Amino acid sequence: VTPLAPVDPTTVDDPRYLELDKAIRQHHNRPDGLIEVLHVAQRLFGYLPREVLAYIARALSLPPSAVYGVATFYHFFSIAPAGAHTVTVCTGTACHVNRGTEILHAIERAIGVRVGHTTGDGTITVAEARCLGPCSQAPVVVFDDEITGELGADAVLARLDRWRTR
Ligand code: FES
Repeated sequence: VTPLAPVDPTTVDDPRYLELDKAIRQHHNRPDGLIEVLHVAQRLFGYLPREVLAYIARALSLPPSAVYGVATFYHFFSIAPAGAHTVTVCTGTACHVNRGTEILHAIERAIGVRVGHTTGDGTITVAEARCLGPCSQAPVVVFDDEITGELGADAVLARLDRWRTR
């Protein structure tokens, strides 16, 4: 993903950008949609990575400094990863019917944090997406930047255990 990639889902291989693009399009690429788009990005990535801010700036025709300024002004946005790792669970329709939402709840129960939050030891942030694109692989779960599909709750929790015991 290049920081100045145009808003075209086919140019990036991280499906979280597909959902981000959807939000950008809903706001017709208008600068006044910035806060809403940042909310979607924060939900998808668990925080606002630098390259995501640059991507949004370009998509909304805003100077990167302005986007950075807004992202750092509001307390509900974070520009640094809260946890060492982020797990993003898709709960879009296809993933929901294939137990995506159940997996999200299993994660919340297992590590004791709600979506959008980070474990007390700073290891894992839990994030949620509403359709990342590869619906045929539902349920889709992203471990940091690694996209996985068709994992059951036990396998997902085992991956998180490995993060926690490292
Ligand atoms: S609903 Fe999860 S990838 Fe589409």
